[in-house]
Amino acid sequence: PRQFFVGGNFKMNPISRAQKKIIINELNAADLDPNTEVVIAPPSLYLLPLKDILRADIKVAAQNCYCKTSGAFTGEISPAQLADAGVSYVILGHSERRTLFHETSELVAQKTKAALDGSLSVILCVGETLQEREAGQTTQVVESQLRAVVTVLNESDWGRVVIAYEPVWAIGTGKVATAGQAQEVHAYIREFLSTAVSTAVSENTRIIYGGSVTASNCKELSTQIDVDGFLVGGASLKPEFVDIINVKR
Ligand code: 13P
Repeated sequence: PRQFFVGGNFKMNPISRAQKKIIINELNAADLDPNTEVVIAPPSLYLLPLKDILRADIKVAAQNCYCKTSGAFTGEISPAQLADAGVSYVILGHSERRTLFHETSELVAQKTKAALDGSLSVILCVGETLQEREAGQTTQVVESQLRAVVTVLNESDWGRVVIAYEPVWAIGTGKVATAGQAQEVHAYIREFLSTAVSTAVSENTRIIYGGSVTASNCKELSTQIDVDGFLVGGASLKPEFVDIINVKR
């Protein structure tokens, strides 16, 4: 029994603390399904002040971290610093990090290991571009992104990893994957985990979908057997985020 998981990735939004406060006030007042794990990932600047005002049943995530504990790494934040600040999760390997900031699968793997060693949980993002999908390389791409991580983790590390399948062509485009397309890749990832790691890890790891998820398209996706939740971008800044969190109710 995998607990349903809904994450809100605010990305580099909102632009002011005043707007952030409006979003948080709405979440604080909402009636949320207690059976769903909810995590929000604001810009790192907002993590600490947000923890003070956010309801206790919503966890916070960073959107990135570095793979070292401390030192001369200007502009970076370490897993140890995040954990010390009471941050529970970190999103790693997001396609925007891979593409715009040139993060390789090897770096993402090192960051994942460092985050887990620093007692954080990790939302690990994988996914293919449109070009890769059209070339029939979807499973190959996802597998190589995952294999880099499998190589550096111990079996016990997987208890604190959530995998987010985010096809790049669906991110911020309004072009959501169909339930069938999502289920197909999620099933493939679960199968990969069973051969590359273990049956237990395959059965217990949450595999969530991200890419243009909205209140109106999340219902059908949520009924797929291997879809264990969502990583929501744009819609996590809107009141409909509550409806996405409550989709299983
Ligand atoms: P959108 O929901 O805005 O498409 O973003 C998805 C995403 O990248 C979540 O990490």
